[in-house]
This record gives sequence, structure tokens and C-alpha cells, in this order.
Amino acid sequence: MQMEKKTALLIVEDDLELRRQLRWALEDDFNVFEASSAEEALSVLMSEFIDIVTLDISLGTSQDDRSGMELLRHIQETYPEVKVIMVTGHSERELAIEAIGCGAIDYYEKPIDLPEFRIVLQRAAYVQSLEKENRRLARLLAEQSQLERIIGNSPQMLEVFDVIKKVAPTDATVLITGESGTGKELVARALHSLSPRQQGPFVAINCGAIPDTLLESELFGHEKGAFTGAHARKLGKFEIANGGTIFLDEIAELSPSLQVKILRFLESRSFERVGGNETIRVNVRFIAATNRKLEENIHDGSFREDLYYRLSVIQIHLPPLRDRGDDIVLLANHFLRLYNQQFKKRIWGFSDSCVQIMKRYRWPGNVRELENRVKRAVILSSNKYLSPEDMGFGSAQGTPKYDGGLRAALDEVEKRMVEHALSLYDGNISKASAFLKVSRAHLYDLLKKHGLERQNFRKGKFCETN
Ligand SMILES: Nc1ncnc2c1ncn2[C@@H]1O[C@H](COP(=O)(O)OP(=O)(O)OP(=O)(O)O)[C@@H](O)[C@H]1O
Ligand SMILES: [Mg+2]
Repeated sequence: MQMEKKTALLIVEDDLELRRQLRWALEDDFNVFEASSAEEALSVLMSEFIDIVTLDISLGTSQDDRSGMELLRHIQETYPEVKVIMVTGHSERELAIEAIGCGAIDYYEKPIDLPEFRIVLQRAAYVQSLEKENRRLARLLAEQSQLERIIGNSPQMLEVFDVIKKVAPTDATVLITGESGTGKELVARALHSLSPRQQGPFVAINCGAIPDTLLESELFGHEKGAFTGAHARKLGKFEIANGGTIFLDEIAELSPSLQVKILRFLESRSFERVGGNETIRVNVRFIAATNRKLEENIHDGSFREDLYYRLSVIQIHLPPLRDRGDDIVLLANHFLRLYNQQFKKRIWGFSDSCVQIMKRYRWPGNVRELENRVKRAVILSSNKYLSPEDMGFGSAQGTPKYDGGLRAALDEVEKRMVEHALSLYDGNISKASAFLKVSRAHLYDLLKKHGLERQNFRKGKFCETN
């Protein structure tokens, strides 16, 4: 029979005598931790998985300590799943009500009647366990649908699925490669949800989207005062991902100094926050992705070879969509069903000529491009079967007009490429410029030159800000 794990209870109380009494009385039912000050409470919360906190509201009336209310706010923000019960004196009713307003689950007025107090705690534990179970089920459902979302039947994708199933249960570092839009993030999520870490967090971070100066503190966190603007200690993604998986996207964008830090992390599973000396160990599974050929970056000296070998213990390569044969039509139909449902449309399928074009097309934006084209077609078309024009394969694919000479024709091609990139990435400048292999500034110039507005390429709630 499996032993029920005891609820972890943290008693924050500056009266030593009372704390000891509570421990003796509650030890049989709870796994009891004690703290006599806000500082102590915070360090217990950092190192243990606490379920319930009983918090003396008049804690730390001694000058240099934080008050109970302040600690309550901090707990609510940092550990929202923790249930807090305020313990108050009899003249502190108003404060108690304020505490409930701040998210405390209950309050209890001193003097403490132990049998009654135990019941209050057990009720909180019950609510806590229900919420925990609820979160677990919600996560399971989400994961299930994550898995079902990877569509593919081509031999290349069946091989990918095979590797995923073998590697997911291990802690091995995985490098996912493939062109933009081939499903790298989808695979990273599948690796996580098929692993024993599935209950833990999945934390994704795009190294290309964050300026290098901020990235280090995003990843490793910083101490209060580490740099101008660092008003409080901040946990980095590595700490947030503890017990789960961290996914570093666009790993080729890492600066040399961050490459060294990541390498050190992979070797020791530890790091320091920016501006701190404390060595922090975390238990995190590491997955990285890139749409570059890292071998080339190693060759030109922009990516460390030793880091590459650490990362690529297991490599999963996602083939470009154009090489996946019948998967193209399979995916197109999948997205058609999805968006029919979402936009309450009843489009039956794709016309024969549309299928032929889809099979021959190069799909530079891969699955993401296919998804976006189908989505736009479903929204706009009133045909029973989607035509090449519905899918954006109309005249835009033909030869540009000849009458303006070569210059005009080149301009026309340039404009279409810019439009294509923007609609591929919903108006996201970083991604569109990376796709076009031009700088962001140049892309802005091109927008101006061709009278394009990037807002027009955003698609409602699916757009990303940058
Ligand atoms: N095999 C697939 N089945 C269903 N949907 C897919 C598949 N592959 C990709 N997608 C969808 O295509 C879109 C792009 O996928 P994803 O973000 O995982 O690509 P990526 O390789 O990480 O792209 P980028 O390099 O631009 O970050 C997502 O909406 C994803 O759900
Ligand atoms: Mg991605």
C-alpha cells in the first residue's frame, strides 16, 4: 500500500513556547517546519515544498523584521499554491480581514484551542490537496493534447517519434534541430510530457528574443542590487524550472560569455545568480533547439565546440515539411478540421489542384506556414473546397510584371518576400528579419519603402509582441 505523504506545515511564530506546543500537537498529522521570523520563513519556503503556512500576524514587531502582512503578500506572490492561515490577537480583527483580502485562506484568533486549530488546518489541507489534484489533471489533459498535436506518418517522422519515446523518460540533454516552423518546440514539450518530470514545470526561453545583457539574469536570476534597476532578488529560469525541463530556443544566438556559463551549468548542474556568490544547484532537464547548422557556427568561431558536444548527446532532427511527402496533406487536413471548428466553418477539403500545388511547394516556413495559410483560407474562403487562390497560391506565385523593367520586377519580388515573411510570423519583426536574413533596421526600412504596416499582419490573439 502506498503511504500518503503528510501535508507540509510551516509554523511562523516568534513565541518559542507556542511554536513548540504547536509542533508537539500537530506532528502526528503534519510534517512540521518552524520559523521564528519572516527571514527564516522565506528560507524554509525556498528549500522545502510547503503546503500550508500558519502565520502570526503580529510577527516581528521587533524593529528589523518584516511584518506578518508583508510576508503574507510575498508568499501570495511567490508561492501562490501555498495556503496561509493568519493567527491573530483578539484586537486584530481588522488586520485579519485585510489578510483574507490579500489571499489568506482563513484566520484564527489567539488563544489557540488545539483541537479546533487542528480542524482549521485539516480543512486548509483538504482545499490544498483538491487544488493540487485539479492542477495535476489540468496539466495531464494539456499534455495529452500536446502529444496528439504532433501529426505525421512519413517514415522520417515515425523515426522522430521513436526517438522521442526512447529519450523522453531519461534525463539526457537533447538538441533539436530543424528549419523554422518544423515543430521543434512541439517536440520539446512532448519530451517533457512523456518524462517522469511531467508534473514539474516546462520553462521555455527564446535566446534570440532577449538582449544579451538581460538574458543572463533571465536565465540565472539576480541578487538585489546586482545592477541598476535590480530592486529585488529575482529567480532565473533555471531555478523556476527546478524539478522540470528547461527549453532554450535559438541556442545559436547565445553570446560567447553565456555559452561558457551554460557549459558550466551542464557540467556541474549549478550556477550563481548575477551579483551573487551563492552556488545554486538545481535538478533540471536541458533541451536546446536551433534552426541553424551549428557546425557552421563552430567553423566560423561563433559557437563553442565543447558546448556543442555537451548539447548534442542526443540530436533530433526535424525534416523540412517539403521532404515529408504525404504528411503535407495530412497536416493540411488536420489544420482544416481545427480551424473549421474554431471559426465555425464547414469547408470540406482542398481542391485537386490545390493539393498538387501543396505537394510541390517548397514550404520555406514549414508547418507554421502551412498552418497560417490554412487558417487564413478557412477564415476568408466561402468555397466548399479550398482553391490555390484561397491558400495564397494565386497570382502571387506567378512571374512579376515585366513592364517596369528589371528594377521594378526586383522591387516587386522584394515586396512580396517582405509580405510573406511578415504574414508567416504574424508581424513579428525579429522573426521576420531572421527569416529574411536582414537586420531589423533594414526590415523597418523595407516596410517604409513598400508602404507596408506590420500591424496588418497581426492575427488577433495569435499575434506575438516583440
Ligand atoms: N507535426 C506537427 N503536427 C501538428 N502541428 C505542428 C507540427 N509541427 C509543427 N506544428 C505547429 O506549427 C507551429 C510551429 O511549430 P513550432 O513552434 O514547434 O516550430 P519551431 O520549429 O519551434 O519554429 P521556430 O524555429 O520558428 O521557433 C506550431 O503552431 C505547431 O503547433
Ligand atoms: Mg520555436
